[in-house]
Amino acid sequence: LQLKDHFAEQFKIGAALSEAQILDKKPGVLDLVAQQFNSLTAENVMKWEEIHPSPQQYNFSTPDKLVSFGQKHDMYMVGHTLLWHQQTPDWVFEDEKGNLLERDSLLERLQLHINTVLGQYKGKVQAWDVVNEAFNEDGTLRDSKWLAIIGPDYIEKAFEYAHQADADIALYYNDYNLFKPAKRKAVVKLVKQLQSKGIRIDGVGIQGHYALDYPDLNEVENSINAFADTGVTVMFTEVDVSVLPFPDEDNQGADISLDMALQQQFNPYADGLPSDVEQQLAQRYKQIIDLFIKHQQKIDRVTFWGVDDGQTWRNDWPMTGRTDYPLLFDRELQLKPFVKDIIN
Ligand code: XIL
Repeated sequence: LQLKDHFAEQFKIGAALSEAQILDKKPGVLDLVAQQFNSLTAENVMKWEEIHPSPQQYNFSTPDKLVSFGQKHDMYMVGHTLLWHQQTPDWVFEDEKGNLLERDSLLERLQLHINTVLGQYKGKVQAWDVVNEAFNEDGTLRDSKWLAIIGPDYIEKAFEYAHQADADIALYYNDYNLFKPAKRKAVVKLVKQLQSKGIRIDGVGIQGHYALDYPDLNEVENSINAFADTGVTVMFTEVDVSVLPFPDEDNQGADISLDMALQQQFNPYADGLPSDVEQQLAQRYKQIIDLFIKHQQKIDRVTFWGVDDGQTWRNDWPMTGRTDYPLLFDRELQLKPFVKDIIN
């Protein structure tokens, strides 16, 4: 069973690859990826801190490998991401003396970064997440150095620069918790605003980091419809479904390896997933995939944030050392039996 063939009439099926996976340090993963997926995203290696860690240094070697692997297998390559508040080095916002830049200098730096990265991948990467996670949950713009230094038009500037750098690629806005009405509304407004100014935007990426009981899929559906109504394409860009309890704020970031009690509380499935929880995961995935299929006309791509449970950021977030089961392939790289049931 090959996912990409099974869903060929519906949408592209993608995966995000880590550096170790790109460098083929996880035996079997790249072969599986070539068989199963027809779109790829870099989990980290195209983010600013990785691809452009210091002013004069661009690290193209690992992302180049990803891109040539994708080209070899005829895959739709998605760059992630040009502008984000995370995984962006401090120097980006500072002059040589460590003072915060003025608006014009930061815009210039952003444009240079975008030109350089898109120039490297011209004709090879078909689409980019131009701006990632710009909104708060209440729909206001997230407080970031981008916003503080440039002002609210930093988003449109990023889209303009990307389009100027490469007029042939698709440009996306990407975010999480887009099922929340206030955030949904803000993104719809952003899309319409870009459209009314004649600035290219092709799609909205709904990340899709979900859990067994979160979020309400009716609200996800409302967002698919709301985004599609603006005329852009909708994508699910970072799908995974966690089975783990979500720790309260006080415990976020705690190193649970230090504390056995916490470890048991927040890492209950270290020795395997009990069948009743597996059942819930199966049901949840069925509902999610059914939703994608229902809206296949609007959805261009479904990308999973990883390949197999052995390597997923969910094992390390919001605490390190957890044992999660969020993806379609298990730790032995086998397609989970419930996936076969869902799509047969
Ligand atoms: C995550 C990666 O998976 C981790 O390896 C990294 O340590 C942090 O970033 N939203 C995004 C992704 O847009 O880039 C994030 O990826 C997950 C949340």
